[in-house]
Amino acid sequence: MLEVVLAHQVDFATWRAASRHYVLAGVLPQSLRWRVAVTPQDIVWSAPSMDHSPAQPSQALTLSRRFVGVLGEALQAHDPERFDVLYRIMYRLTHGELELTSRSDPDLQQLRQYVLAVRAETLRFREAFSAFSAQRMHNVLHSAPAHYILEANARYCMERNARSWRVEAPYRRMEWAGGLRFAAGTDVVRKEDDLQWQADGTGIWRGYSLSLLPPNRKDVESAATVSMLAARAMDCRACALWQPASRTVFGEGAEHATIMLVGEQPGDQEDQQGRPFVGPAGQVLDNALRDAGLNRDQLYVTNAVKHFHFTWNGTRRLHQKPEAGHIDACRVWLEAERRLVQPKLLVMLGVTAAQSVLQKPVTIARSRSRLLPLEGQTQGLVTVHPSYLLRLPDEDSKQREYARFVEDLRLAAQYVAQFDAAKQN
Ligand code: URA
Repeated sequence: MLEVVLAHQVDFATWRAASRHYVLAGVLPQSLRWRVAVTPQDIVWSAPSMDHSPAQPSQALTLSRRFVGVLGEALQAHDPERFDVLYRIMYRLTHGELELTSRSDPDLQQLRQYVLAVRAETLRFREAFSAFSAQRMHNVLHSAPAHYILEANARYCMERNARSWRVEAPYRRMEWAGGLRFAAGTDVVRKEDDLQWQADGTGIWRGYSLSLLPPNRKDVESAATVSMLAARAMDCRACALWQPASRTVFGEGAEHATIMLVGEQPGDQEDQQGRPFVGPAGQVLDNALRDAGLNRDQLYVTNAVKHFHFTWNGTRRLHQKPEAGHIDACRVWLEAERRLVQPKLLVMLGVTAAQSVLQKPVTIARSRSRLLPLEGQTQGLVTVHPSYLLRLPDEDSKQREYARFVEDLRLAAQYVAQFDAAKQN
């Protein structure tokens, strides 16, 4: 009997290398035993020198990238048998004993169950992490996932929350503080002082797979909270902007705010920090809100487009206006935010926001500073984008335009005062 020792529960790199090796060497599934290393002294499997007959030409291993992704998902299932099941599938596919299209094969049925269970748990975890990230009081999330899903969600967690955080689970600890690292779970090591952290990308932390859950329209429409919506938006691939950007920057703020502010798209700072309006334009906005008597914590702040669109100029990233296709692709998120927050007033900051909401060509000069009826009970208010104020060439026009911007926000404050008073009574 041959034994393969994996470095950890989701050591996909070792599982895959060993499976390739033994499948091609013709080692029968029943001749192979799989286990996960228990102590650091356990010797993890590495490819032995060719001690088995070389592969027959007819037995080339050609699994599609998509199917390899499915295997990586299934490996996260909390079932000690999974390594055998997956090896058996790989062996039988390679030796012509199995068709991937077979619906009745017990191994493939098991594979489907693993994947469905892992995906469901991934969604649950993502929603919990998203809600945890939306509040800023704690930086440790205690989680007890039913499957080994934490590592595969490391990228998701880093994108959803750029501040420092830690996830503690019985089988694993995972932490981000400028770098990602892993340590034993709370069931294995209880005392903080005994923890031995290992950096991502080094040693055994090279070969786990990453979960990708691109949302469909149903996922967007069925989200019941803004945190759920934000969790689902992280893997959005509806337009090309996701690729150069660091992350999806979702809206944030009071879940049932009376005012929703809609900007254009995240800038460089927002892309890095994962929050809307935290850069120079955000500073102007914060000042103007304060001068208008509004408290940002009581508003909901978002953008028409959730990814940063830029071009490189040397080492600097220069803002590019979003194109109509980007605005259209992202509208589904803005509409879902409106459905959940149900603001009484939607303040559109600049032309992009106004065109996304009103869905027609808009000029700021003609539409600003007055209430516009939108669907349902919501009113709209168009004003300038705060970055317009930053671009004005002279101090006089800056002051004049800033005062007009504050006036528009005061109008917003006055309009919603009636609803906020009613809420308090
Ligand atoms: N400009 C925007 O429109 N939104 C931001 O979040 C930042 C700058």
